[in-house]
Amino acid sequence: MTNTLHKPGTILILLLLSILCCPAQNKRPVNINNLNKKWWKEAIVYQLYPRSFKDNDGDGIGDLKGIISKLDYIKSLGVTAVWLNPIYASPNDDNGYDISDYRNIMKDFGTMADFDHLLKGLHLRGIKLVMDLVVNHSSDEHEWFKQSRSSRTSPYRNYYHWWNAERGKPNYRWSFFDINSEAWKYDSLTNAYYLHYFSRKQPDLNWENPKLRQEIYGIMDFWLKKGIDGFRMDAFQFASKDTSFPALPAGYQKNIIKYYGMGPHLHDYLKEMNKQVFSKYNIMTVAEGAGSSFTDAHNLVDAQRNELDMAYHFEGMDIGNDPKGYSLLDFKNVYTRWDSAFASSGWLSIFLGNHDVPRMVSKFGNDHPEFREASSKMLTTFIMTMRGTPYYYNGDELGMANIRFDSIQDYKDIAAINGYNALKNKGGDVKGYIEQQKFISRDNARTPFQWNDSANAGFTTGKPWIKVNQDYKKVNEKAEEKDASSVLNYFKKVVKLRKQNPVFVYGKYTLLDKGNPDVYAYTRELNGVKMLVLLNFKSTIATIKTGINLNKAKLLIDNYGTPNNDGSLKPYEAVIYKL
Ligand code: GLC
Repeated sequence: MTNTLHKPGTILILLLLSILCCPAQNKRPVNINNLNKKWWKEAIVYQLYPRSFKDNDGDGIGDLKGIISKLDYIKSLGVTAVWLNPIYASPNDDNGYDISDYRNIMKDFGTMADFDHLLKGLHLRGIKLVMDLVVNHSSDEHEWFKQSRSSRTSPYRNYYHWWNAERGKPNYRWSFFDINSEAWKYDSLTNAYYLHYFSRKQPDLNWENPKLRQEIYGIMDFWLKKGIDGFRMDAFQFASKDTSFPALPAGYQKNIIKYYGMGPHLHDYLKEMNKQVFSKYNIMTVAEGAGSSFTDAHNLVDAQRNELDMAYHFEGMDIGNDPKGYSLLDFKNVYTRWDSAFASSGWLSIFLGNHDVPRMVSKFGNDHPEFREASSKMLTTFIMTMRGTPYYYNGDELGMANIRFDSIQDYKDIAAINGYNALKNKGGDVKGYIEQQKFISRDNARTPFQWNDSANAGFTTGKPWIKVNQDYKKVNEKAEEKDASSVLNYFKKVVKLRKQNPVFVYGKYTLLDKGNPDVYAYTRELNGVKMLVLLNFKSTIATIKTGINLNKAKLLIDNYGTPNNDGSLKPYEAVIYKL
């Protein structure tokens, strides 16, 4: 081997090859042909919250016909897939996450004919549709639960988790939405407790029952046969349970996912589901949650495991939960660790907003009028230039901000309302609670989409189910469409850049200037193409030390238009260079 290398001819050939395929800055090139390319890795997913997107019939609630009327808008964004929050029949205890009939459409939203029309309209525009699948629990108004509840000998009894009262009180389980945080609810009809990790009206389905699993696979087939393109598996990490419900060790509340998630047979069920359902279709599947470790996450999504395609973790999201602010060093650290853990196998999503968290700009950026636009654009640049499939929440492309309700009467979310009542019952600080909700409540992200500056932001001709953010006179789609430098038009440009440059999807990520507390700087590299992304996360001018000479760099985008010539970054400035 050493001998061969010393032959002059061989050296020349190797030298030529190295110049052709690996420019100086890229010593270990990633070969695009070995990337295990998939359509869903390249997808740009737009999350659409149907209740608040567009109301067509004037009842104040968004609906499918409303979405259909805006399909050209969705297409104009350049996104390639839509994730639709639940649209199935539901009494709406938790805005559709409590399903009473998995094969029907919620009356407020329209009919199955509307759904078929919507799916066709998306596909005609080259946009895929991913549905939310809520099967850790159903509604207590689902026929299965009604039957299950009716008698201990019902054939549906084992579709849910029951604990007969003569066995004594079951070991405590915490509930996300229960007013007493208690997941076991006593039901006198059959003298037994049923389990609900979420609200009392969301009883947990019993995945340990093979009959229940077959029912769910049938539901999945029903929608997939219609031609939908995937599922987002809601709260699925909680599905499998140790049905002996043992007592949990002290302090388990601090790591609820570890003790409640990734139950004993979860992977068996996912493998079964994959074999019986997913493998028959060219779809994408994404898990809400990624367990409590990298190993958990890999076990959900690594290709050879034949379970799901990708997951989303909440570590990055949780960093922003403190109203006093967050450390950019922590933020960089989280995203860098997850990127490196998934650099060679598995796939994740990348997002900063959804219907369960406050508005992206209010949480991670700065929604003060002076900085709202720049910081929205900067955060969008981050999402669209990282590895992982971007999930972008509707309204963030306009820079929509938290509404900050100051009265509990304005809140609609069961989590906010039950939390308030629980505290009130205990004589707690409800004023402080409202202050906290202004920052953290899910309702901040659920206010109506702002289409124009007419009444109710053009969302409805009726009374909106939740108040409209009064900044709609300025922050609205119509105004932003016309303004070349708007948040909306910037979003479209960055989406285009991601679609034109596979380096943003598959390229190697390298963090630069790691200890810089203000700037997030990184490169992405693929097949000799190298991009530099510089993001100032602060409201002050920032300096950077990347060690990269920008003389020959090509500016691809800057959210201010032009970068400073001294290399500093303006408040919330975002710049992408091709090196
Ligand atoms: C998921 C949903 C959330 C819902 C919960 C219960 O976390 O995203 O909106 O409340 O599951 O279904």
